[in-house]
Amino acid sequence: MSNDWTVENSKQLYNVDKWGNGYFGINQEGNAIVKISPSSDQEKPVEYNIKEIVDQLIADEEIHPPVLLRFSHILKHRIGQINKAFNNAIKEYGYSNRYHGVYPIKVNQERHVVDEIVEFGKSFGFGLEVGSKPELILALGVVEDDEVPILCNGFKDDEYIETVLFAKKMGRNIIPIVEKLSDLHLIIKYSKSLKVKPVFGLRVKLAAKGAGRWESSAGYKSKFGLSITEVLEALKILDAVDMKDCLQLVHYHMGSQINNIGSIKNAVNEACRVFVYLYKGGAGVKYLDVGGGLGVDYDGTKTSTESSINYTLQEYANDIVFHIKEICDDAKVPQPIILSESGRALVAHHSVLVVEAVGSNTIQQTVPEKNGIKHAIIDEMYEIYDGLKISNCVESFHDVEHLLNKCNSLFNYGYIDLHQRSITERLYWSICTKIIELNQTLKSPELDRLNKKFIDTYFCNFSIFQSLPDTWAIDHVVPVMPIHRLNQEPTQNAHLVDITCDSDGKMEKFIQEGSIKDHIRLHKLIEDEKYLIGAFLVGAYQEVLGDIHNLFGDINAVHVTHDDEGKVVINHIIKGDTIQELLEYVHYDTKGLLANMKRSILLAVKDNRLTKDEAHIFSNFYSVGLNGYTYLEESRMEL
Ligand SMILES: Cc1ncc(COP(=O)(O)O)c(C=O)c1O
Repeated sequence: MSNDWTVENSKQLYNVDKWGNGYFGINQEGNAIVKISPSSDQEKPVEYNIKEIVDQLIADEEIHPPVLLRFSHILKHRIGQINKAFNNAIKEYGYSNRYHGVYPIKVNQERHVVDEIVEFGKSFGFGLEVGSKPELILALGVVEDDEVPILCNGFKDDEYIETVLFAKKMGRNIIPIVEKLSDLHLIIKYSKSLKVKPVFGLRVKLAAKGAGRWESSAGYKSKFGLSITEVLEALKILDAVDMKDCLQLVHYHMGSQINNIGSIKNAVNEACRVFVYLYKGGAGVKYLDVGGGLGVDYDGTKTSTESSINYTLQEYANDIVFHIKEICDDAKVPQPIILSESGRALVAHHSVLVVEAVGSNTIQQTVPEKNGIKHAIIDEMYEIYDGLKISNCVESFHDVEHLLNKCNSLFNYGYIDLHQRSITERLYWSICTKIIELNQTLKSPELDRLNKKFIDTYFCNFSIFQSLPDTWAIDHVVPVMPIHRLNQEPTQNAHLVDITCDSDGKMEKFIQEGSIKDHIRLHKLIEDEKYLIGAFLVGAYQEVLGDIHNLFGDINAVHVTHDDEGKVVINHIIKGDTIQELLEYVHYDTKGLLANMKRSILLAVKDNRLTKDEAHIFSNFYSVGLNGYTYLEESRMEL
């Protein structure tokens, strides 16, 4: 461990300046910080110390990790930045119409998140996009302003369309988007029966392919949208009922996290050609909705890899505005109002998950003392240990591998007992530990594979299935780093595992030194001291996709903001689920469970298996447990 480790080394190791996008950093005391840029000339930049926030939550509010910190000012800044990028592009290219963002609720439907987006988005005419009936019901209840656009995607039944058209009749700016021709028939049917003139859009199935993990969301075989033949059919149907003027919007969606700007250019070109055709065919089109897909640079490499993007927000906005203008001008068609449905790029940055490492399994060994347990293999291993030097490292490694295999075979035949095997294994690991040290000078590729065996396991009090489901389901990589001790050298190579009893509940891919590695460097745990690790950029999709594997429920969440003096203010505290809530969710009658338990305890007292005092303590323990957090409440697990 070197004493000259500085926070600059940590910044490089965890790549924070690259993926942090200006929102995250490390202060001189070695704590992770949130950096809030001023949104007006009157404001000053503010820094939050994440470790201090967590300490304060524990001390003042009894809110323990795992906890999700949502930084409201980052959300506000993201909305501002997306609008700014489009407005810059509109100015630069002399675009004659305007831009509005529309937030797809599915990306994070949490009430306070949606409320903040609606509030912060007001001055930009920001709207909401819904993809299901429940989301429609949510949006209609949340949005009170008739001007705010509500776009309605997803599968639709009669009730969905009727609700939309009632809202339209009431005066709401609501636009259903036809994803299948059957949607169009429903819109025509109910607009007649409700006597309302609808405004609606068509989602077009583009030939242009997306890029990255969700590339199949676009293309001929995509799940949603009308093929070009169906678009023509829709126009014919509308002509027949004299409703071509109601078709006002053209929409496409290329899939999420488009990592390559080339795909964005191709798609906007193709969609704009469809727009132009529909306009010339007599449709009342005036909006072009470019969907979601604006990506997030999770690993900070600015490349077209799955966890990065090879373009900036400004380049994205420039390309969309430029291509629409160029095509419309060529065709002498009025430039449309541009809508985009960016979800991930809007909300990902604002949430940080903080978890506590409650224990670790370290393989590194010091050599066991000779204690009279004898065997030829043991003697040979001690000799190898004593004679280890750079020049015989590789040979010694091959020898101990052979000896360990031999020991295991002899054990299986009954020629080696448990004690002998234990000493042999400990010697094996201590020799390997020394070889790894020597290999730092030797740098033999043959010995590099030893590093894999020496990756520690850090047990963290959370559920990957609940809080980072994409890392399990689709190998998604998010930036991870400790939120303190960043002025000390992290000496351990580690994997993170969660507390579910599922062997898939682990993280083995991390952003380290500018690329994706199979381990993360962490600090040695110190007894009786919390070790807190942050997973960053987790505001998009993770919360709602999370599941209750092992009955681990929603975690504590808090909204963090600041006052005029820049002092941190905890705005909302949303307590995580209790065990009782989880049990009721899976349809248990918790009162019944408690009554059953009390009956069993009384019986145990009657049969003298428990004393009255024990019965009282146990009964209390059970009912208090029901109301407790679903995660570990003791600070350190004994391992
Ligand atoms: C129709 C539609 N719009 C917008 C989005 C949001 O995409 P993103 O989060 O990549 O911006 C999605 C999600 O995939 C979607 O299906």
